[in-house]
Amino acid sequence: SLTGYVGRKLMPIFGIGPDWLWLLVYIILITLIWPVAVLVISIPFGQYRFFTSYLKKIGRRMGLIKSAPIEKQKEKITPAAATIPVKRIAIFASGAGTNAQNIITYFHQKPEAGIVVSLLVSNNPMAGVLAISEKESIPLLVIDKENFHTGHYISYLKDYQIDLIVLAGFLWKVPAFFTQAFPDKIINIHPALLPKHGGKGMFGKNVHQAVINNKETESGITIHYVDEQYDQGKIILQTSCPVLPGDTAEELARKVQELEYKHYPEVIAKLLS
Ligand code: GAR
Repeated sequence: SLTGYVGRKLMPIFGIGPDWLWLLVYIILITLIWPVAVLVISIPFGQYRFFTSYLKKIGRRMGLIKSAPIEKQKEKITPAAATIPVKRIAIFASGAGTNAQNIITYFHQKPEAGIVVSLLVSNNPMAGVLAISEKESIPLLVIDKENFHTGHYISYLKDYQIDLIVLAGFLWKVPAFFTQAFPDKIINIHPALLPKHGGKGMFGKNVHQAVINNKETESGITIHYVDEQYDQGKIILQTSCPVLPGDTAEELARKVQELEYKHYPEVIAKLLS
């Protein structure tokens, strides 16, 4: 809309009558205005990072940008922390990242546990972990679907000597070679009592709404090892909370989140102790 509006405002300065020449100049003009309009809109609305990574992705697909971003990031994030004798975790997160932040804060406040979050990984250039990575100075790896299924990131996890991979709202199904590379070292949290309300498409609000629609009297969290199936790995811990009559999906999400914040870091600490 902005492109069209600015284009029409600028056309009178060319003084061309409304014929085919007018149309041609107009098309050239809006083609030039479009990228400027995208920048004008994307910066104040916080889409700039998304926009630039989208352009880079197109550039890579067209062969205009040579090195894959994953390789560039590898140079930037040399595993300096690898010399410190601690247990290291990598958190994979696609959403708001509140669990990731909670885990980071928990282990900051508990240095005696000797556990550090050494790497954040996201498939979503808009995920909350991007800001968390900057704020907490933790290296971040952004992977796209191609990279996720070719497994380049496994060498990062090995370079960082990652002891445990923690999925915290990471929504892609994990390929078999990944679980085989880290047997019993990948865990996930699910916001319901599995095996109920799990599987493809069951994340966040969808899960809580399904619990309410099914008239369950309790819900809770499941922390489990990850295998190649959605939400089916061996269960490590389940704890529950009541679902009261009249609870909305938002209210239930709040109760479940409380359980997540309390138990997920504790389970991580226990597994690594
Ligand atoms: C968490 O509630 C987690 O249990 C859920 O995504 C949320 C992420 O929140 N995971 C799933 O639904 C996996 N199927 P966060 O981004 O604020 O940590």
